[in-house]
Amino acid sequence: MNMNPLPALDAPIADLLLLLRQRDLPTALRAALARIMEAGNAEGASLCFAARRPIQLRLGHLPAAALTTIEQWEHSLLSRLEQGPLYAEITSQAALPSGHMLVKMPLSGPDTVVGNVVLLLPPDQQLNEYQFDALRTLCHVTGNLVSLLQDLTLTQQRLERLGLLYEIGQALASELDLQQLLRTTMQLAADVMNAQASSLMLVDPTDSNYLIFEIAHGVKRDQLKRYRMPTTQGIAGWVATHAQTVIANQPDNDPRFNRKVDLRTGFLTRNIICVPMQIKGIVIGVLQVLNKANDEGFDDEDQELLLTLASQGAVAIENARLYRNLREERDRIIQAQEEVRKELARNLHDGTVQILAAISMSLEHARRLIDRKHDPEMVIQELNDIAELNNRAIRESRTLLFELRPVVLETQGLGPALEAYIERLNKDKGKAAEVTLDFPQDMPRLSGKVERTLFAIVQEAVGNARKHAKAVEIAVKGRTQGEYLYMVIQDDGAGFDLDKVQAKYETSGSLGLINMRERAELIDAEWRMASEPGKGTRVTVRVPLAETRPEAI
Ligand SMILES: Nc1ncnc2c1ncn2[C@@H]1O[C@H](COP(=O)(O)OP(=O)(O)O)[C@@H](O)[C@H]1O
Ligand SMILES: [Mg+2]
Repeated sequence: MNMNPLPALDAPIADLLLLLRQRDLPTALRAALARIMEAGNAEGASLCFAARRPIQLRLGHLPAAALTTIEQWEHSLLSRLEQGPLYAEITSQAALPSGHMLVKMPLSGPDTVVGNVVLLLPPDQQLNEYQFDALRTLCHVTGNLVSLLQDLTLTQQRLERLGLLYEIGQALASELDLQQLLRTTMQLAADVMNAQASSLMLVDPTDSNYLIFEIAHGVKRDQLKRYRMPTTQGIAGWVATHAQTVIANQPDNDPRFNRKVDLRTGFLTRNIICVPMQIKGIVIGVLQVLNKANDEGFDDEDQELLLTLASQGAVAIENARLYRNLREERDRIIQAQEEVRKELARNLHDGTVQILAAISMSLEHARRLIDRKHDPEMVIQELNDIAELNNRAIRESRTLLFELRPVVLETQGLGPALEAYIERLNKDKGKAAEVTLDFPQDMPRLSGKVERTLFAIVQEAVGNARKHAKAVEIAVKGRTQGEYLYMVIQDDGAGFDLDKVQAKYETSGSLGLINMRERAELIDAEWRMASEPGKGTRVTVRVPLAETRPEAI
């Protein structure tokens, strides 16, 4: 060999630099080992690179005795590296019975040992100090280059993942179509992780003990579409109930793993990662990715990525759901308004407008009577008729106004409607009484007729209390008890003599109390009013629950 090692190193180092371009670690290492073997005039060579999955290469002729020693050295190195980084490693030599010499040199990265190289020298060939140094330098350069290459590859992968995550984030933020959104998420999840399949399950909104397969990518999706699975089963079920990630690189060793889904689809799960999708700490579903390429298994980086994806996905799903609810709510409001409008038009046409037309005719008649100087008695009679018609028109218009109930009553029900109504009253109440509401949040929707009637009764009773009672507080309460729904409106005001008011009712022209009672009768409810001067007034309506069920949709 050349006594000066440097010229001999020029070519191999230049070669190694070229290898960096390949960007493929095993190929680069194999080529580097070939150069080192050549430079050392060796018959055989081995290389061990301690990556997450160690790369172990053999080149040339290596007899069994050599392999045994090489394996011992590699094993010892790898187990020491498992304990922590190694900052230096000695070179050593071993003579084989055949007279061959084994020379071991560390493969060192920028600051730590990353592997070793062993050369098998022909019998009786010794390395002089220069050759030895030259080979060590070559190993050092190789170690540095492959470490760089590894970092570069990792960085590149991370960049690609970040890029994809960004794309996914963009897609999720702009997509409001739930199904399309979920499909995109799952496809990208599998792509980003270089895996074969992925699926997304959402907690069943009607029963949180079940997960429903919403999207399956890479498996026979038809067999899984809308498949329902109890959360007591499988890794996905465990993730949904514990809100924690599971990585199972050997699923058969994981007692939570359930082959049932595989049997259904004919898919063979080799490894799996499953993460929860959460909104404000509540699990709304799980994401899982299956069969990472090259059987490498999923790692912490995959977990981090999938969790990011899961949280972005969960927010997007929540947005899409809110958007859908909003659209449905808007449609309901439009429909309710349309119905109110039609009813109003019908009532105006059939009632008020007819009466007004009759008034107009009677006025014309009265004018003629006056023109022709008829009997004043006849004119008075005609005017009385007109007054009567006019009163009817007023009553009808009042009823119409009474029935113009708020849209929120139609769309959200009695509770929210009362809440909105009372809030408005309290807002500009001035010196009027404070109105309070006690209505169960979980009260189910009642039939439209019952809700409208109860709302109208509350409006009248609260209106009376505000108008007549001089109360401090008006309490509106709703509750169910036994077979009945009770609605109570109570004030702490002046009260009044109910009998006296009812006795004069015919002549007073007011209809509030009568209207309340008649309306209650229409829904088979019992209406009662209790009042005493100085002790406030209480209106109670009792509706049989059997009457309150909403109409089937
Ligand atoms: N909560 C109440 N507190 C005091 N007086 C009341 C109350 N509710 C009704 N009244 C009395 O009963 C009468 C009849 O009520 P109503 O038929 O609603 O007519 P209106 O409200 O048009 O006067 C009222 O004029 C009032 O004198
Ligand atoms: Mg009144």
